[in-house]
Amino acid sequence: MINTPRHIAIIMDGNGRWAKEKHLPRMKGHAAGAEAVRRTVEACRELGIGYLTLFAFSTENWKRSKSEVKFLFSLLGRFLVGEKKNMLKNGIKFSVIGDVSALPEGLVKKINAIKTVTRNMDKLTLTLALNYGSRNEIARAVKKLLSAKPPDNIEKAFADALDTKDMPDPDIIIRSSGEMRLSNFLLYQGAYSELYFTDTLWPDFGKKDLVKAIKVYSDRDRRFGGY
Ligand code: IPE
Ligand code: IPE
Ligand code: MG
Repeated sequence: MINTPRHIAIIMDGNGRWAKEKHLPRMKGHAAGAEAVRRTVEACRELGIGYLTLFAFSTENWKRSKSEVKFLFSLLGRFLVGEKKNMLKNGIKFSVIGDVSALPEGLVKKINAIKTVTRNMDKLTLTLALNYGSRNEIARAVKKLLSAKPPDNIEKAFADALDTKDMPDPDIIIRSSGEMRLSNFLLYQGAYSELYFTDTLWPDFGKKDLVKAIKVYSDRDRRFGGY
C-alpha cells in the first residue's frame, strides 16, 4: 500500500540552468517553470494530495536583477489570472505565505481576489511562498507575540503566529535541480519532514517525478523520535 503524503512542499529550483542548457534567456526558464507548476498542481489533484506548497520567490531573491524580479512578478500575475477558472472547477483553494506587503500592488490585488473566490474550495490547498523566508516569518511571528500577554501554551501560540497557521506541517519537502539545501524554506515546519532531492531541473518536473518522490516517501520509516 502507498502511504500518500498529506502535504507536499517543493523548492522549485533550476529554471535558470534549464534555460542556460538550451542557450535561452533565464526568463524562458521561468516561463517553462510556470508550465511545470500547472502540471504539478494537476498531478497533486489527481493523486488526492491535500496541500501543495510551492516556493516561488524567496526573501533573498530580491538580490536578482530588477528585470528578472519584475518578470517573475508579472509571470505570477498572469499565472493566477489564467488559473482562476481551473481552480474553481477543480476545488483548489489558493493561499499565500510570506510577506506579501512588499509585493507590487497590482499583484497583491490579484492574489487577494483569487484567495477570496477560492476560499470555500476544499480538494487541494495550493499555497505559494512569495517573498517568503523562514527567518523573516519567524521574526514577524515574534513581533506579533511581543505585544500580547505571554501565552500558556507558547508552542501553540507561536505556531499560530506563523504564516502557515492553517496548514499541517509538510510531510515531504522536494527540491529540484540537484541542490541539497533548504534555502530558508519552512525551517520550523519542516522539523520532521522527509527530504527528497532530484536532479531534474524544475521546468522538466512532472507527474512521473512527483509519483517517484511519493513512492520514496512511502517507503521511508518516519519515527518522530520514537521506535
Ligand atoms: C528557481 O529557479 C526559480 C526562482 C528561484 C524564482 P532559479 O532561477 O533559481 O534557477 P537556477 O538556480 O538559476 O538554475
Ligand atoms: C530557492 O531557490 C528559492 C526558490 C525556489 C524560490 P534559489 O535558487 O533562490 O536558492 P539558492 O540561492 O540556490 O540557495
Ligand atoms: Mg536557483
